[in-house]
Amino acid sequence: YDLIIMGGGPAGYNAAERASHEGMKVLLFEERALGGVCLNEGCIPTKTLLNSAKIYESALHGAPFGVTVSGASIDHAAVVDRKDKVVKTLVGGVGAKMRSAKVEVINKTAVIKGKSSEGFTVTCDGNDYTAKRLLICTGSEASVPPIPGLREAVESGLAMTNREILDIRVVPKRLCVIGGGVIGLETASYFNTVGSEVTVIEMLDKIAGPTDREISKILQSNLEKKGVKFILGAGVTAVSGKFGAGRVSYKAGDKEAQIDCDAVLVSTGRRPRTKDIGLEGVGVKTERGAIVTTECGRTSVPGIWAAGDVNGRSMLAHTAYREGEACINDMMGRKDAVDYRAIPAVIYTKPEVGTVGETLESAKKLGINASEHTLSLRYSGRYVAEVEGGDGIVKVVVDDDHKTVIGVHMIGSYASEIIYGAAAMVAGEKRVSDVQKLVFPHPTVCEVIREAMFTI
Ligand code: NAI
Repeated sequence: YDLIIMGGGPAGYNAAERASHEGMKVLLFEERALGGVCLNEGCIPTKTLLNSAKIYESALHGAPFGVTVSGASIDHAAVVDRKDKVVKTLVGGVGAKMRSAKVEVINKTAVIKGKSSEGFTVTCDGNDYTAKRLLICTGSEASVPPIPGLREAVESGLAMTNREILDIRVVPKRLCVIGGGVIGLETASYFNTVGSEVTVIEMLDKIAGPTDREISKILQSNLEKKGVKFILGAGVTAVSGKFGAGRVSYKAGDKEAQIDCDAVLVSTGRRPRTKDIGLEGVGVKTERGAIVTTECGRTSVPGIWAAGDVNGRSMLAHTAYREGEACINDMMGRKDAVDYRAIPAVIYTKPEVGTVGETLESAKKLGINASEHTLSLRYSGRYVAEVEGGDGIVKVVVDDDHKTVIGVHMIGSYASEIIYGAAAMVAGEKRVSDVQKLVFPHPTVCEVIREAMFTI
């Protein structure tokens, strides 16, 4: 083969298709279903669930809009059935894509065996396969912190990661979420809507990790209004019990307390999957468990590239696509580099959060002379027409020395769909005056970004 790819998630399957179009003979190994975490137990299933929650919420809260629905209900098991159908369709789609691109797929685990004069050898089920180049896209897995009782709780079914919780067919009456990052918040949002009493325990003093602090606060207050409880600045110290009768102990400052719950979600981050894939044998450099890569995906070993969560850089499916492409371009001798400054990130809660680039806080840390400019989404006619009492905002971060847009942060309707336009501004180093001259469609929520440029 010209190229062996280990892992058929967004990084791997997209790179396989690109490489094949470049004329390479490609072999792709995937031990589970094609599509990886994103398609099978991440992005797609959660968006399917959250869309059902959105439809249900609209039915419940239509009164201010003159719409009353009586007897609205949500059938969680039916939502999960639909999610399975959506996942099956899309996984099938990736398979069809691989067949039409003439990528050979082996549905088994592969391990790097070594280097030879012909390239690299990978072993799978007792057979060896050799290729000139290797692309490692083995992804990431949920990290389960060493909290007393947690591992046992995962084994007994009381505690779940993103993988298991998407398949449960009963709604836990009380759900305790450990970790208020993206997975924790999206899952909390869904289960709150379908009837769970949700408590999120977060170690930091804010939710949503690196998200702009003001936007995190707006998100938290929106979720609190719906009944989600947050315990911030708290570390979980123990987990015990079984599904339906669990207990989570935590320490916040000097205070120690417990909450009783029926189920626990562990969403304390993910770690790259670099163990037991044979990296040591060929000397690929890792740092804190992640493969060290350059901006075009080269590893420390010439001929081996890596893309996606396994490099621990951004851990987002859309970054993975781009990284895989950069690797293929580099293999083809074309100069390429992923622009990590302009990667959009979205939290698909209601309201949605969309962010790209620097926050004022991160810009200051980098020594950039920056300022932020915030505008309420109520400047948008469409937002006022569609949202009752909305408190969404958009925040533009500007490099004051160059008058360029270096960050856009938004909470409110359509943020997930709008943010790519802002990413284009950040990636293109657009000046405030450039964006002022762009024509935005009216009436839309994205117009507020343009409006914000005139407050600078
Ligand atoms: P995360 O890193 O976003 O959040 C984990 C949170 O858990 C952090 O806020 C951390 O402070 C907290 N934490 C860690 N240990 C704790 C403890 N012992 N007690 C209490 N809190 C603790 O990780 P998450 O949410 O698991 O997501 C993993 C990855 O998946 C992320 O890289 C994320 O970007 C990606 N993802 C992206 C989505 C999207 O783009 N919409 C959706 C879901 C996941």
